[in-house]
Amino acid sequence: MNKLTNDRAPAYRAVITGYGSYAPEKILTNDNLAKMVDTSDEWITTRTGIKRRHIASDSETTASLATEAAKRALAEAKLDAKKLDLIIVGTITPEMVFPSTASFVQRSLGAKKAWVFDLAAACSGFVYGLSIVQQYIESGRLNNALVIGAETLTKITNWQDRTSCILFGDGAGAVVLERTDDGRKGIMYSTMFSDGERWEALNCQAYGSRYPADKKLDEPNKIYMEIKGREVYQQAVRRIVEAVTDCMEHCGLTNDDIAMVISHQMNARIIESAAKRLNLPDEKVYLNIAEYGNTSAASVPIAFDGCAREGKIKRGDIVIFVAFGAGLTWGANVIQF
Ligand code: UT7
Repeated sequence: MNKLTNDRAPAYRAVITGYGSYAPEKILTNDNLAKMVDTSDEWITTRTGIKRRHIASDSETTASLATEAAKRALAEAKLDAKKLDLIIVGTITPEMVFPSTASFVQRSLGAKKAWVFDLAAACSGFVYGLSIVQQYIESGRLNNALVIGAETLTKITNWQDRTSCILFGDGAGAVVLERTDDGRKGIMYSTMFSDGERWEALNCQAYGSRYPADKKLDEPNKIYMEIKGREVYQQAVRRIVEAVTDCMEHCGLTNDDIAMVISHQMNARIIESAAKRLNLPDEKVYLNIAEYGNTSAASVPIAFDGCAREGKIKRGDIVIFVAFGAGLTWGANVIQF
């Protein structure tokens, strides 16, 4: 029997009452990419599972994508933005250095009551955000929150680097969380990890305090994302297994209890390899990477939105969100949907 509801359950839970996502209309296919760098649809498909990715136009920004996803989630939750207590935007491609992307989202939504901030945990930004909201709602401090993952990674992509430019896409996903005193649903558990020793595996070094805008870069490509693909691949498989195993053990769950694992979509082979080590059957692992590529913090909420709308999960199901990314950061949430 699982340990999700027991005598020590908190008085309140953070339950997902709305979800939504948005991706730019413009599409870049693998065949389009093969005209830009020395690659092929066949190589990208077999090595990553990606077929296409959505690309923000010049007029689309991280805040505009985030706002659109947020509006859809709020509509689903039937919650007026003016009632929001907190907005968190997980992103590593913010609107500007400051103020936060969340400030622009607050303004666009008219969410005057909310306090807002960005969360820079790369691909783990959304699951980290959920773990924060879980604490605030369980303590009774907040009634609700909006957590968004939003990225315009293609704006920091080196389109000459075939090892990275094939991977990334743009988009946003959002969830509305509200307080319930029903202990049998909501975010039941969160587990988060980091390893700053491995920061070099995935980074974009300009223009922070190490390389401010007025200091000449020793390497012009530092304005773009750099990845050590192999190292990331191996760490990702290991850390996803670690985070999901932690959830299962802490909550006393078996694979039979789980309806779906919704992973950050970084590479279909990474997700399949982790799923194999976890003995998860294919139908319990959601994949949408073919359509979106890697959208970092936006990836899990876009996948969750797709999975729910396709009817692959229903209310009451136990779902695990898991993410891994730059930092390194990784983590997972157990959700009773
Ligand atoms: O969310 C976290 C961010 N995600 C990541 O950082 C991605 C994690 N890593 C990966 O997904 C994979 O490591 C990649 C998809 C990036 C690369 O796949 P791989 O199976 O690890 O390939 P590899 O890097 O070992 O490269 C194999 C070969 C190399 O050629 P040689 O040295 O064997 O002649 C590469 O130069 O494939 C070549 N290659 C390509 N060929 C065609 C690398 N990129 C491409 C490409 N098209 N786009």
